[in-house]
Amino acid sequence: MKITAIKGINDILPDEVGKWQWVESVARRIFANFGFREIRIPILEKTELFARSIGESTDIVEKEMYTFPDRNRQLLTLRPEATASVVRAFVQHQLHLQPAMRKFYTIGPMFRHERPQKGRYRQFHQINVEAFIDDPMIDAEVIYLLLVFLQELNIPDIDLHINSMGCVDCRQPFRIALSEYLAGVSERLCQDCQRRRLTNPLRIFDCKVESCRQLMRDAPVLLDHLCDDCRSNFASVKGHLKSLGVIFTINPHMVRGLDYYTRTTFEALTPHLGAQNAVGGGGRYDGLMKILGGPDLSGTGFAIGMERLLLLLAGKAGGQQHPIRLFVASLGAEAQSRGFQLVQELRFRNLLVEMDYESRSLKAQLRRADKLGATHVIIMGENELAKGVALLREMEVGSQEEVPLDGIVEKLLQKFDLVM
Ligand code: HAM
Repeated sequence: MKITAIKGINDILPDEVGKWQWVESVARRIFANFGFREIRIPILEKTELFARSIGESTDIVEKEMYTFPDRNRQLLTLRPEATASVVRAFVQHQLHLQPAMRKFYTIGPMFRHERPQKGRYRQFHQINVEAFIDDPMIDAEVIYLLLVFLQELNIPDIDLHINSMGCVDCRQPFRIALSEYLAGVSERLCQDCQRRRLTNPLRIFDCKVESCRQLMRDAPVLLDHLCDDCRSNFASVKGHLKSLGVIFTINPHMVRGLDYYTRTTFEALTPHLGAQNAVGGGGRYDGLMKILGGPDLSGTGFAIGMERLLLLLAGKAGGQQHPIRLFVASLGAEAQSRGFQLVQELRFRNLLVEMDYESRSLKAQLRRADKLGATHVIIMGENELAKGVALLREMEVGSQEEVPLDGIVEKLLQKFDLVM
């Protein structure tokens, strides 16, 4: 029986890879301009890391993680997101002792056992940014960076939603108000939310069941319960965003799916992806580093879903692979062996060269050269070898000239402007 890839876990074929590389290179260039440095973190972590940071009663930890015991029966999880790992690495390597190390980005695969559909997969890729600085200016900078990046890629119609999740001080009185409201409507909540009401009532704002969504429209919101500090912090973030010309919508019902958020949170939304309308999202997380055993440094960041970006880029140019410039066509065993050496030497000297390995007819080889977009073809057969030459064919005009085999590498490098 044929073995196929796991549902929701996709291959990225060579024709698509160019676009991925292009998006990644734009990210790397812009993030570097903003002072972010790349960090590479493991794909596999101890389960405890995510349970403690994302929150035991979130959908991600409750039902979406790929968790399994290793041979020593330690529970491991394929990372569902990157923030927890970046914070863990920061703490583990004591990067707080190096003041220049505050801004990081990382790009790579994440895993969540969700129901696959367009824009939602079980293995997906995130471009992720984290800054461990506690100032409203950095919240604004990170949001601005997200928008600059999306703009650079020409992603249209992005709507930025922001909210404040407050701090522990304002969350306590808010929880009481929310719990009172939910108690009054509890029998109209879905089964999951009846449970959430007691474990993590904030999560009910995220419920996709229409009746719950309707009930939550009238629920009290955190934004109306912010303490003075959180209110003025949010005002500063909004002020900085305005100073950068950023247009935003305040969305008091946006709670994000992870428990570590405090104060400013945000999402970049698109009308072009149906239900999966978040291209990226993030926010501040005061207290997370301390929970993970580190210093009490707060952070803010975001992650963008690569697949969603690429769906939005579909049909647009970008990331074309370099076409092959030269094709070496040879006829007969001896010529093929000589051609094989020539190809390797030219590749070593930086020329994009391809050849035929299957002893096909000259016609078939020329057809292949054309398909690959080669501008020139070297043709070598027994007659040419006997004369100590090869034919250099210019594909567009169809003209051919003889080139002595002696010194052919230099001659070709000159032709393609590769001589230093
Ligand atoms: P998140 O909102 O869970 O945040 O994910 C960020 C983005 O990842 C989403 O907006 C979406 O584009 C993409 N994404 C999430 N799940 C899937 C999926 N199943 N299939 C395809 N794309 C998906 C976080 O992960 C936070 N760690 C972001 C953050 C960084 N907050 C602070 N720093």
